[in-house]
Amino acid sequence: MFIDLTGGGFSVHCADAMEETRKVTHKGSFVAVVRDNKQIGQRHYRLGLEFEADAAEAFAGAEPGQFAQLDLAAAPLPPAEAVPKDLIDESGRKILLRRPFSFADVVSKGGKTVVDILYGVVGPATLRMTGLSAGDSVSVIGPLGNGFRVPEGKKQALLVTGGMGAGPLEYLAKVLTADFPDLEVIAFAGAKTAKELPFSKRLDEISQGLGFSLAEFARYGVKSLMATDDGSAGYHGLVTDCLAEWLGQHRLVGADVIIYSCGPEQMLARIAEIAKEKNIDCQISMERMMACGIGVCQSCAVECKVDGSEKTVYKLCCEDGPVFDSREVVFSS
Ligand SMILES: Cc1cc2nc3c(=O)[nH]c(=O)nc-3n(C[C@H](O)[C@H](O)[C@H](O)COP(=O)(O)OP(=O)(O)OC[C@H]3O[C@@H](n4cnc5c(N)ncnc54)[C@H](O)[C@@H]3O)c2cc1C
Ligand code: FES
Repeated sequence: MFIDLTGGGFSVHCADAMEETRKVTHKGSFVAVVRDNKQIGQRHYRLGLEFEADAAEAFAGAEPGQFAQLDLAAAPLPPAEAVPKDLIDESGRKILLRRPFSFADVVSKGGKTVVDILYGVVGPATLRMTGLSAGDSVSVIGPLGNGFRVPEGKKQALLVTGGMGAGPLEYLAKVLTADFPDLEVIAFAGAKTAKELPFSKRLDEISQGLGFSLAEFARYGVKSLMATDDGSAGYHGLVTDCLAEWLGQHRLVGADVIIYSCGPEQMLARIAEIAKEKNIDCQISMERMMACGIGVCQSCAVECKVDGSEKTVYKLCCEDGPVFDSREVVFSS
């Protein structure tokens, strides 16, 4: 049964083009069963969660950019030898609050919905997440927040990911290429080093055949460029510099383009500057520590500009976001 946590939501992908595919997105508290939990890098995993019945229906409508709150308090710790050295002290910490995660893929079939979450191991909750295995149950609240939107008249969509920000943009690539076949989609994926790029790094047949670097985007026919700060893969430098150079070489009409981005806030701030300089629409997925995820605790404030005024207001990352127009966000220096 749906437990409507906030009175329900009505969500639309795009003003007109998507009018017919409007869907009512219910959110609720559900139980998911772990389908798989694959290690894809040194500290990167991909968790598949399977939902049935009402939960399957709710998550079938999950949009790229939305997220879910996972209860990982009861997830088992991995064996001591599998705990990274820097997390040994923290590994025993109790997990009181749920943790937010976006969706890297959503597949509905035969009354079931499988949601993929791409995650990095950074603390006690994500460490316990690695201990989940097929058949385990996880309590999940979602889908929450708003998703990325597609304004009318766009010809190119540039997806810019930093580190673990890749997940929601992978799912966005899938939805954009399926729903907007005339839109050219290009992904820019950045990380500090090649080891920290959260991809399988396998050049599969499709990506090799197309000459594309990342199989995760090639499977949707999306060309991708990689950037690493240390030059260990792809462009040597920040992904934001890679994007700026690319935009310098490709004389696109600003109004035709939209940038979507997810990653560390410093990166998002630079993306917002680039978009402003080039007069390009830009939507960014912000991160905040989230205690409730449903607009109650007020812990996830994002300072936003008020249109036509010097004033700012605080919006909630969990309810008004996590996706914001880059022009409205006030970034901390
Ligand atoms: C809307 C949203 C979507 C997210 N999607 C994903 C995802 O798809 N994959 C993924 O790997 N992670 C995602 N995150 C981040 C994820 O929630 C955190 O990595 C997780 O909560 C860390 O829990 P922990 O107990 O392992 O580490 P903690 O001990 O809680 O944190 C470890 C370190 O990470 C920092 N941190 C933790 N959470 C956040 C946050 N939300 N924003 C900024 N810094 C934080 C802490 O300050 C600390 O330095 C998302 C966050 C938000 C808000
Ligand atoms: S996380 Fe509680 S209000 Fe946003």
